[in-house]
Amino acid sequence: MIFSVLIPAAGSGERLGSSMSKALIEIGGEAMFLRAAKPFLRFAGCQEVVIAAPARDLSEFEQHAQRLADPRVRVIPGGATRQESVERALEASSKTCDALLVHDAARPFITDSLIASVLDGLRDCSASLPGLPLKDTIKLVEDEGEFVEHTLPRDRLYAAQTPQAIRAELFREAHSLALNDRWTATDDVALIEHYHLGNVRIVPGSEGNFKITTPEDLRRAQQLVAQASGS
Ligand code: CTP
Ligand code: MG
Repeated sequence: MIFSVLIPAAGSGERLGSSMSKALIEIGGEAMFLRAAKPFLRFAGCQEVVIAAPARDLSEFEQHAQRLADPRVRVIPGGATRQESVERALEASSKTCDALLVHDAARPFITDSLIASVLDGLRDCSASLPGLPLKDTIKLVEDEGEFVEHTLPRDRLYAAQTPQAIRAELFREAHSLALNDRWTATDDVALIEHYHLGNVRIVPGSEGNFKITTPEDLRRAQQLVAQASGS
């Protein structure tokens, strides 16, 4: 299967509270977005990796990306929301692929085996994503956020991760519908669900593939690479 990878990396990292762009922060001596992007390049079907970067830091992202010395990697300006950044990367991507894989720059511990299982999950459906079973019981609260409406069935709830793989023609259709409706979602396969464009398979996610959101997540990431390198 020929696929293009879209890496939304244009967020400011508000919850992390860092002055620099979150995706440029180095983990084990390498910018977070490069660590997130590199494993995809090892797959024969990967025809390109399009990175949506904050417009103000475009040249810095490009300088980092050049270290990969791989003509399949491109940096483009992202948008004001994650969905807008994905939309711009989608626009900039080649029209010749079978599938799109969208992966957050903020998940730098992606493994080859997780990429392979998401790709495999796409074999007979419209989209596929890694999910982790929830540990906590989830309460749905009323709009005002003070009283519980009901408790959701925990055995059917999963936390969505990336990479999310979606058939190319369906993803383009879903994005143009969402643009027209001004409908936004917090992940990519939600567009396929919302417009009833086919089945979305969930494959086992991984605890190691966590998203760096808070200062605590960043400390955990730095510790992991320090342990792995034996320092
Ligand atoms: N993202 C993006 N464009 C945006 C907002 C987010 O490409 N306008 C990307 C982020 O760079 C990140 C991914 O979407 O790789 C997931 O978003 P998140 O973890 O929320 O990162 P930030 O939006 O940067 O963080 P925060 O919400 O704390 O500001
Ligand atoms: Mg965000």
